[in-house]
Amino acid sequence: MTDEPIEEFDPDLLRREGLTAVPGGDTQTHDGTGRVDLAFTIEDLEAPATHRKVRVPPGVTVFDSASWNGIAIDSTCGGHGTCHKCKIQLTPATPVTKHDAKTFSREQLDGGWRLACLAQATRDHEVVVPPLTTRPKAATVGVGRQVILRPAVQKRYVELTEPTLEDQRTDLDRLLAAIDDLEPVADLHLLRRLPQVLRAADFKVTAVIVDEDLIDVEPGDTTSVRYAIAFDLGTTTVVATLLDLVTGTPVAVASMLNRQQPFGGDVISRISATMLDPTALGRLQDAACETLSRLANQVCREAGVDPAHVYEAAIAGNATMTALALGIDPEPLGVAPFIMSTAVPPTVLATDLRLELHPRARAVLFPALGAYVGGDIVAGMLASGMDRDKRTRLFIDVGTNCEIVLSDGDRILSTAAPAGPAFEGGAIRCGMRADDGAIEVIKLDPAGGVELGVIGDVEPRGLCGSGLVDAVAELVRVGLLDSSGRFIPDETAPDVTPGLADRLTMIGKERVFVLHRPTPDADPADCVVLTQRDVRELQFAKAAISTGWTLLLEQLGLEHRDVQQVLLAGSFGSYLSAASAVRIGLVPQLPVLRIVAAGNVAGEGAKMALLSVRERAGARALLEEVTYVELSDRPEFNDKFVEQLAF
Ligand code: FES
Repeated sequence: MTDEPIEEFDPDLLRREGLTAVPGGDTQTHDGTGRVDLAFTIEDLEAPATHRKVRVPPGVTVFDSASWNGIAIDSTCGGHGTCHKCKIQLTPATPVTKHDAKTFSREQLDGGWRLACLAQATRDHEVVVPPLTTRPKAATVGVGRQVILRPAVQKRYVELTEPTLEDQRTDLDRLLAAIDDLEPVADLHLLRRLPQVLRAADFKVTAVIVDEDLIDVEPGDTTSVRYAIAFDLGTTTVVATLLDLVTGTPVAVASMLNRQQPFGGDVISRISATMLDPTALGRLQDAACETLSRLANQVCREAGVDPAHVYEAAIAGNATMTALALGIDPEPLGVAPFIMSTAVPPTVLATDLRLELHPRARAVLFPALGAYVGGDIVAGMLASGMDRDKRTRLFIDVGTNCEIVLSDGDRILSTAAPAGPAFEGGAIRCGMRADDGAIEVIKLDPAGGVELGVIGDVEPRGLCGSGLVDAVAELVRVGLLDSSGRFIPDETAPDVTPGLADRLTMIGKERVFVLHRPTPDADPADCVVLTQRDVRELQFAKAAISTGWTLLLEQLGLEHRDVQQVLLAGSFGSYLSAASAVRIGLVPQLPVLRIVAAGNVAGEGAKMALLSVRERAGARALLEEVTYVELSDRPEFNDKFVEQLAF
């Protein structure tokens, strides 16, 4: 382990990769710690401006920060600085890039106008987002991915000639003949509506087509009204994004805890529930459907969109969540040899999942690579373009089950590492979810200072996953934890960290480090503490993960320094401090600037599948391109795991 891994790297190399500032201050750098607050003012031509506050790791661009939070900013170039559309006004302003200089006048630059895709948030900013002006042909989603808009949901407005005694074509022939670029097939539902809608609307109607199917005719011209919902169906949290398919922009985002929580926090406990109780599968399915349906109602309500104008949903979930939502017995996923019922779930009607959208709306579920590298990871790979980048990239979705993907630009390997519940706060004495009161950032000063970043800026109540990683990384850095993960003896602590030694104490027979005392003389048992056992939990989790990527690197004949980008994904991974992740060895020893928070990539992949049929096909193609590596049966696994335990 090294405190300053960046020094091992040639600064010129990093500069050529665009990772460090070039002379003239083209880009800002950061040290990979902490959080920044962005206060967005979102202007709208037809409504009063709205305000949103978001908190992101430093170094994320303003464009990505907005997109992760469902705030739309104009763009057609995919965040490459070339379309010059993603204009925002920043206070304080970020350094002027050469693309900013080409886009804005001197007065505008002085007024803080910048291109959002190039402005890295390295401190707190206020951001004004002007009203959307473009009707783009492409949308930027995922990790800088640009998607040409070609949704499966299409609409065609037609004005038909009325039938006469001379023109006796059927209603359907008349309609299909007027749609010249598509050849959809009608179903019974459509035929039942067609005669009445055509005549009531004077033969001026809009045909609604999803893939090959003509699912409806609507009176008049409704071509500007076309929506879909992308779901990230997580084991813990479920996120829904309502997308306007005409513009490719998100119009509302909502999230809630998965209502399957009472059956256990992880996939194994939910699978076990179905093995112990024959009614559990039905109840788990009900809970999944209720979660999806509540979120669908919420996003439609918030955006003022009629649910009948939502024609498709895409769902990215792990293999167990997908099976449970479909009411498929998950037991074979939970016991060796871990077999899925299918890698490619069938497309179902949204009503089969009890979603109250258009009655013929479809729900598309992501395909999976294996029982433990599921549809959420396939969606994440799609969003991060793992199959389209020539660089050597490592993708890590950190959670109870950690999925790891390594690509050398040619071959792609994936694996899963059981990291346990440490990152979700489980099995950690003061562990909690990333909710108000959770310590998410920690900085220790050996002279005595403890700086805590707390979600919601309230009294600390506990420690979330990123706080846990920070706590251990900082304690290793200041020398209170040795490389084996043990707290150093009480006798030596005052010499090592004079200002922090008194925080090292006991609760019962266990040594703990006090992170927050509610009152100066509070009993340690009433304080927010990190225990020796907590350190062990994290140590096992990080060893499982780092064993995973170490073995993948070895399989491709690569070393740490060959990795050009590490994408930390998922609701936990994206908020992890890059510096702390490097320090404890959760990721390879690389400059923090090579470690990128990727956001909710599963949700982004689901959006891409809705915005583009080509991307949807790309998700299927990943099943052929990616090799799944099972680690647990490797003879060297145990030796590597033990090696990786050290900090
Ligand atoms: S310049 Fe095109 S998105 Fe920023």
